[in-house]
Amino acid sequence: MSKYVIANWKMNPVSYSEAQKLAKAIGLSARKYRNVKVVVCPPFTWLTDMSHEKEFGLEYGAQDVFWKDEGAFTGEVSSPMLKNSKVKYAIVGHSERRKLGETDAQANLKIKSALANGITPILCVGEDKKIHSRGLAAVTEFIAKQLRASLKNVSGSTFQDSGILIAYEPIWAISTNPGAKPDNPEQASTTIFSIRKVLASMFHVSSARRRTTFQVLYGGSVNSQNAEGFLFCPEISGVLVGGASLKPAEFGEIIRAAHDVSADKKVKNKKIKK
Ligand code: PGA
Repeated sequence: MSKYVIANWKMNPVSYSEAQKLAKAIGLSARKYRNVKVVVCPPFTWLTDMSHEKEFGLEYGAQDVFWKDEGAFTGEVSSPMLKNSKVKYAIVGHSERRKLGETDAQANLKIKSALANGITPILCVGEDKKIHSRGLAAVTEFIAKQLRASLKNVSGSTFQDSGILIAYEPIWAISTNPGAKPDNPEQASTTIFSIRKVLASMFHVSSARRRTTFQVLYGGSVNSQNAEGFLFCPEISGVLVGGASLKPAEFGEIIRAAHDVSADKKVKNKKIKK
């Protein structure tokens, strides 16, 4: 099964020419490894121009979306606007937005608006250090709460038809947080297995169909050196990459690792030129 490699550029880069250069390089890797689902999420300023650029051959996502279609909502961007700009995905509930006040209830409104407009949500969930230190049961309980609230009133058939992506992003693993270090593939896999169990019970999916029905990605300090380990795990449907997605050679290696893993090839640990 093809794996997802999603770039979250966050508030980078600061010029469109840099964004173009980056997208061009990522586009080359995406074209070379067509069995990998590559999605790039640039800031809004570059997103609409980029999504109309056929040259890069990429799919695009927004880093956020508002829940109303139009009106007096200064600074917001709606799902119909994204749809009309050929944007296919929208990140919802990223921990950096939650830190600015986004709640599960808001994430739920955003998801429903995205779904109504044919945009695939990428719902981010994940625990902080304190909850993590309490062990898997506490982590699962916390994430189950996030999932139940964020996916409230989303039906099982809508979930499956729209292909909602869940990104498990433990906050303590996100590279820009103090003392961050990546999760290890084994532990991430175990947590994602629990997330699938929660989703299966929410949407009445049998254990045999859990892995094919739900796409659950890992995110948090993924780079060219550790990507293969995460991508190799059958439980992990792909990776959401922040910092390393701004370095074309590094990100290209992550795409290659996803290709090799999907194509069942042995991944060679090539050295990256920094
Ligand atoms: P990181 O960011 O890869 O830089 O840790 C991931 C994210 O925040 O989505």
